[in-house]
Amino acid sequence: MLRAMQLPEPFLPPPRLLMGPGPSDVAPSVLHAMSRPLVGHLDPTFIKMMEEIKTMLREVFQTNNEMTFPVSGTGSAGMEFCVANLVEPGDEVLIGVNGVFGTRMVEVAERCGARVVKVEAPWGRIIEPGQIAEALKRGRPKFVAIIHAETSTGACTPVEEISRLSHDAGALLLLDTVTSLGGCPVRVDAWGIDAVYSGTQKCLSCPPGLAPVSLSPRAMAVATGRKRKVQSWYLDVNLLAAYWGQERVYHHTAPITMNYALHEALRLVLAEGLDARWRRHEQNHQALKAGLAAMSLELAAQADHQLWQLNTVRVPKGVDEAVVRKRLLTDFNIEIGAGLGPLKGQIWRVGLMGETSTRANVHRFLSALGRIQNDLGRQTDVAAALRAAA
Ligand SMILES: Cc1ncc(COP(=O)(O)O)c(C=O)c1O
Repeated sequence: MLRAMQLPEPFLPPPRLLMGPGPSDVAPSVLHAMSRPLVGHLDPTFIKMMEEIKTMLREVFQTNNEMTFPVSGTGSAGMEFCVANLVEPGDEVLIGVNGVFGTRMVEVAERCGARVVKVEAPWGRIIEPGQIAEALKRGRPKFVAIIHAETSTGACTPVEEISRLSHDAGALLLLDTVTSLGGCPVRVDAWGIDAVYSGTQKCLSCPPGLAPVSLSPRAMAVATGRKRKVQSWYLDVNLLAAYWGQERVYHHTAPITMNYALHEALRLVLAEGLDARWRRHEQNHQALKAGLAAMSLELAAQADHQLWQLNTVRVPKGVDEAVVRKRLLTDFNIEIGAGLGPLKGQIWRVGLMGETSTRANVHRFLSALGRIQNDLGRQTDVAAALRAAA
C-alpha cells in the first residue's frame, strides 16, 4: 500500500482570511507559541503555565469559580462536559432551542438519559424570558440551558432575566458561550451562571482544540454529589479536578501545544482589555452592517439582538449563495459560512471574530462582495458601501 502511494508534498495552506463562523484568524504570536519545543505535560514549567491559563480564563469568564480550566477537545466537548456532569438518567432539563447548537445540546442531554423539555423559538430569534417562565411553571428541571450566541442564526439571547427565573425555580443555569466569549460581554458571576463552556477558535482567536469551562460551587456540588458515576470517563469533572488541581494526578495527556496557544491567545485578550475588545467587535459589526445596508443587504437575525461577531446576511432573491461564497474563496481568499438547516441557501454567515474583527477586513469583504455582485449583474455601488462602512 505504502509503496504504491506517492508521498504527498508538505501541506502549505493558502493565505485565507477567515470570515466564517469559526475558526477565526489567529495572531502570529499564537502560531509562534505553537512551534515552541514540547515539555512533558507534568513538567513543573508546564504546570505553572496551566495555572496561569486558569487564572486568565477566570478573568475572561469574569468569575471566581475555582473549577475553571480548558477541557481537551473542541467546543462540543465543553458542551458534553457540562451536560454529562450535571445530568443523571431520568433528570428533567429545560433547553432553549433556536438553532443548530440548542438542537445539538438536546441530543447530548438525551444521550445522557435526561428527559428534555424544549423551549423553542424560530431560527434567528432569541429565547424570550417569558417562554422560560411559562415552561418553569410546568416542571422542575435540574438545569435550564441557553445558547448565548447562536452561531447558526446570528442571534444573541440575553441571559440575566433567564438566570433569575431559573434560580427562583431551583434550577441551575447552563450557558454555551462558544461564540460569545471574548467578543461580547460574558459575566459568569454577575449573571449567576452555574455551568459555562466555550471554544478556542472563535473570539479568543486560537486554533480549535480546547474548550474552556467553568463550574460554580453549586454546579460542583451537583457533580460531586451524584448517585451514579458520570457517563463519560474522559469528561468526568471528579477525575479532571485532580488533574487540573494542585495534586496533578495523571488523567490524560494534555495537548501541550494547544495549551501554549491558549496561553498566548488569553494574554492577547487581556492585554487588549475586555471592554476594548467588546467595543472593537461592536464597532466593526456596525461598520459591516452599514456597508451591507448601502448594498441593499440586510441582516437576518432579530433586530436589537444581532451578534457583533457573527453576522447572518440575507441572500437577495435570485442570487445563488454558493456561487458568491465560492468566488469569495477562490478569487479573494475570503472564507465565509453558509446557512444551516432551515436557513440553508437563505443566508451567508460572516464572522468578525477576534483577530478577524478589523475595519480593514470589513472593507476587504465589502469590496470583494460588491465586485462579485456587479459581475453577477446585481448593480452595486462599492464606493458607497465603503463610505457607509467608514
Ligand atoms: C454556539 C456553538 N456551540 C457549540 C459549538 C461546537 O463547537 P466545536 O465545533 O468546536 O465542537 C459551536 C461551533 O461552531 C458553536 O458555534
